[in-house]
Amino acid sequence: MLVKLGRAASAVSLVLGLRLQSRPEAVAAFALSHDLIKPWQVPSELYRLAKIVATLRPEKVMEIGTFKGGNLCVLCRLSSPTADIISVDLPGGKFGGGYSAMRSFLYRSCCKYSQAMHLIRGDPHSNEILTRVKSITQSLDILLLMVITPMKE
Ligand SMILES: C[S@@+](CC[C@H](N)C(=O)[O-])C[C@H]1O[C@@H](n2cnc3c(N)ncnc32)[C@H](O)[C@@H]1O
Repeated sequence: MLVKLGRAASAVSLVLGLRLQSRPEAVAAFALSHDLIKPWQVPSELYRLAKIVATLRPEKVMEIGTFKGGNLCVLCRLSSPTADIISVDLPGGKFGGGYSAMRSFLYRSCCKYSQAMHLIRGDPHSNEILTRVKSITQSLDILLLMVITPMKE
């Protein structure tokens, strides 16, 4: 019971804390500091990425390999407020093994009000997933594409 309460409190602190940040460095720093989503991304790369996303404000973003969702949450907070955010993750995949259904709820909570988050669990090499991604974007004009990032500093 106490563990569940602790997790709920951590999720609330994450969602509220993220919403209080607006500068790209602050959003990246907050994600890196939060155990619930701590990105695997090399911190210096994440800071750089955050600045690029904040400048481009992409309307369509796709990340392949989400795991604890750190990068995904940063992408949400810094993309266009009306962006389509797509995550494709292979359940049981290398370097983390994907994420649980409970986490889907957490990731959606990090979105801005008018963003749409599409959490797709499956093999990005399959025709089925390609068809799903195409149906979301209408065309594959992805402005920003992230791929699995197992490296650490
Ligand atoms: C290192 S983690 C991703 C880290 C994440 N981007 C972050 O912000 O910390 C790698 C993730 O990629 C997924 N994965 C591994 N191989 C994959 C594949 N072929 N297609 C899609 N996802 C894959 C794993 O399931 C795991 O969840």
